[in-house]
Amino acid sequence: EGIALWGGRFSSGPSPALARLSKSTQFDWILADDDIAGSRAHARALGRAGLLSDDELKHMEEALDELQRRVDSGEFAPIEEDEDEATALERGLLEIAGDELGGKLRAGRSRNDQIACLIRMWLRRHSRTIASLLIGLIQALIDQAKAAGHTAMPGRTHMQHAQPVLLAHQLMAHAWPLLRDIQRLSDWDKRADASPYGSGALAGNTLGLDPEAVAKELGFSRVTDNSIDGTSSRDVVAEFAFIAAMIGVDLSRLSEEIIIWNTQEFAFVKLDDAYSTGSSIMPQKKNPDIAELTRGKAGRLIGDLTGLLATLKGLPTAYARDLQEDKEAVFDQVGQLEVILPAFTGMVATMRFDKDRLEEEAPTGFALATDIAEWLVKNGVPFRHAHELSGACVKIAESRGVELWDLADDDFAKVFADFLPADKAPQVREVLSTQGSVDSRRGKGGTAFDRVSEQIAEASKQLEPA
Ligand code: ARG
Repeated sequence: EGIALWGGRFSSGPSPALARLSKSTQFDWILADDDIAGSRAHARALGRAGLLSDDELKHMEEALDELQRRVDSGEFAPIEEDEDEATALERGLLEIAGDELGGKLRAGRSRNDQIACLIRMWLRRHSRTIASLLIGLIQALIDQAKAAGHTAMPGRTHMQHAQPVLLAHQLMAHAWPLLRDIQRLSDWDKRADASPYGSGALAGNTLGLDPEAVAKELGFSRVTDNSIDGTSSRDVVAEFAFIAAMIGVDLSRLSEEIIIWNTQEFAFVKLDDAYSTGSSIMPQKKNPDIAELTRGKAGRLIGDLTGLLATLKGLPTAYARDLQEDKEAVFDQVGQLEVILPAFTGMVATMRFDKDRLEEEAPTGFALATDIAEWLVKNGVPFRHAHELSGACVKIAESRGVELWDLADDDFAKVFADFLPADKAPQVREVLSTQGSVDSRRGKGGTAFDRVSEQIAEASKQLEPA
């Protein structure tokens, strides 16, 4: 038999249709452990307020221990009639402690402050799991960047060859946003670190309970300042949902890169067999499904965020049942990220780059044209003209179907004639190599090997536990 947490003023129970709509145990039962922890803290607060005798408190704590044991073993689980996790646990407690004692625990709290507190507890715990999974992924990127050494590759803008960059530099460009995602999670935690317990249904409680002590026991450093806000705002949940969506987007950007690099035309990278899939019909196929699933799930993570924001928009202040919709959004995000990240990290850690091919492609497509222009600038040519002159070199090379370094000394001398003596012009060749181009980008954050080594060291430092 289920129990109702209300009913005094009702002449009938809920219709089956309402019960089906109202029911949330199919997704909120994962809050059971946090709810029992909250109940323990709440029981002690009742004890300190003199609302449970020492003896009653002792029995209550034993009953909660037994309830936890039954939940852990699966002996106790929600039944069809339980509306939500709180209703189910109340039924479980009454079974163990009896109506008399069990019925005392609900004093001074409401499911409104309870649920607002539980979602924070649950998210804070999982935010740490996600942060540590991200650390593993960033470490894998750093390891790949270190292994890449001096290998250069074509750097692209608009997907067109732009300037050569180090492979390590390109990989680290994906590590930094993920590092910021970790920082976002820890910044978020400062706002999540306030317990709504004690807010009651909306106005606070009359029973002289000590919410500070409850907060401490539940791992919060403070209590929310406004009981209406404490029970009805979900910006903390929405902010978490944004970070989860952002992580999805950051992973999706890297996924897209890996998918392209893994094509036959690019052939920059090979994925390990353990992190690739085959085709049921085409025996030759080896597919980058991890990257594709990650890219696909980014859409879903964004959907969870936008769905939640749409739910929150325009709600009247103080609790409304709409707020129950916050949970599935973030539970889904966390569930997805916790399966995506281990697979993704494995794929990144085991992928193998074709360094020769990357190196060979790095300077092609006239990717050294900027170097010509900048060499001219260093030799006193105003950039506007330098840009034109370098463009003229590209035009000649393109019309002959060759690369820039294939041009003759004479070609350079002719193109630069208005600005440089004929014997100076061919010296432009000193920048017409991948290594020369890469090495010359020595400013902070640039692609020169030493600068890239610095950023790898800095990122590694930021990964260390504070
Ligand atoms: N299950 C609800 C939620 O997740 C909490 C219960 C509040 N119900 C209520 N009728 N006040 O938000």
